[in-house]
Amino acid sequence: MDASRGTLPEVFVCSNGLQVSTPEDWRRFRRPEIVELYREYVYGREPVGRPDSLRFQVVMEEVVMQGTAVHKQIDIEYTGVGGDGRFRVHIYIPLTKSKVPAFIYAAIKGQSVSEVKLEECSSYWPVEDILSRGYAAVSYSVEDLDPDFFDEGYRNGVHGIFDSRDRLRSPDAWGAMSAWAWGASRVMDYLESDSLIDSERVAIVGYSRSGKACLWAGALDERFALVVSNNSGCSGAAISRGKAGERLLNINRGNPHWFNDNYKKFNEREDELPIDQHLLLSLIAPRLLYVASASEDNWADPESEFLGLLLAQPIYSLHGFSGLDADQMPPVNSPVYGERVGYHLREGKHDLTRYDWKCFMDFADRKLKHAYS
Ligand code: GCU
Repeated sequence: MDASRGTLPEVFVCSNGLQVSTPEDWRRFRRPEIVELYREYVYGREPVGRPDSLRFQVVMEEVVMQGTAVHKQIDIEYTGVGGDGRFRVHIYIPLTKSKVPAFIYAAIKGQSVSEVKLEECSSYWPVEDILSRGYAAVSYSVEDLDPDFFDEGYRNGVHGIFDSRDRLRSPDAWGAMSAWAWGASRVMDYLESDSLIDSERVAIVGYSRSGKACLWAGALDERFALVVSNNSGCSGAAISRGKAGERLLNINRGNPHWFNDNYKKFNEREDELPIDQHLLLSLIAPRLLYVASASEDNWADPESEFLGLLLAQPIYSLHGFSGLDADQMPPVNSPVYGERVGYHLREGKHDLTRYDWKCFMDFADRKLKHAYS
């Protein structure tokens, strides 16, 4: 490996020196330790899981597309020390005789997921394509969990609902990424209650900033059977050590509200991090994992994203699954698969396109629809 990457933290070596060599020991010793390292140094600690107060309100439900699908809007509501909160989930489900697998999309930057015009497939959220391939299309906007684009001191969103106001925020308090990941798990809570959905076969897709959050959601919540991270770059799928394009200093200055305060101590000191992103990807194993890059996305750095996935493969091998059928970056628009992992490098810029979705669904058709039957 390129010397600029320095020494990367080991997947199988615990902080006390214990070498893990079985799936059982991974689960018992190393996996929980890595989760804690991410809580402590990167995303922060979420103060609540599924709140007792969680409620689902059906806002609307109607049959659409000439009787072939149902469209629902559900408000997910909760109450904490700071009062009541809610966010809306938009769901399209193809009507078939059996329960259907689903793709959840964590929308960003005000992308419209409420006004989907079914006859005009949107590139970032191609609902008709998804339905035609037999999946439910489920989406929520991360900004409904915690506002983005400005650092409001964690007063709004779920931080305002669940954080105590009489204490100072600690350096490992949860940031926006963690709030967005928390939202993904609450969507999953709802899907488990919907009789039309096969909740054992739910994929979560994030793009760019939400690609980072979805990896964290998938690491924490093992109900997600497939995790897809599209162009997630720095602090997503990309290895931080020796990374090109965006570095920790850039992301922590540009978006200080995304991560916890401890993370900022590693600006220009990536080598001292007790983790690197192959460890985050390893937390998804042995479930399905798909990483996607774009050839002109230099800020995210496709090489480092691909390397993150390559370096996560030993954990799949430990569970008896073959790795990617490639040890070099594949050519553009040529997806490569292993038994439980997939990767493609799309030609073009930072984006989430219909082609990307086609690749995610090709992978899911082969692996998600059948892998667990
Ligand atoms: C910025 C940020 C990236 C992020 C991207 C996005 O470019 O630096 O880390 O992935 O925004 O979410 O669009």
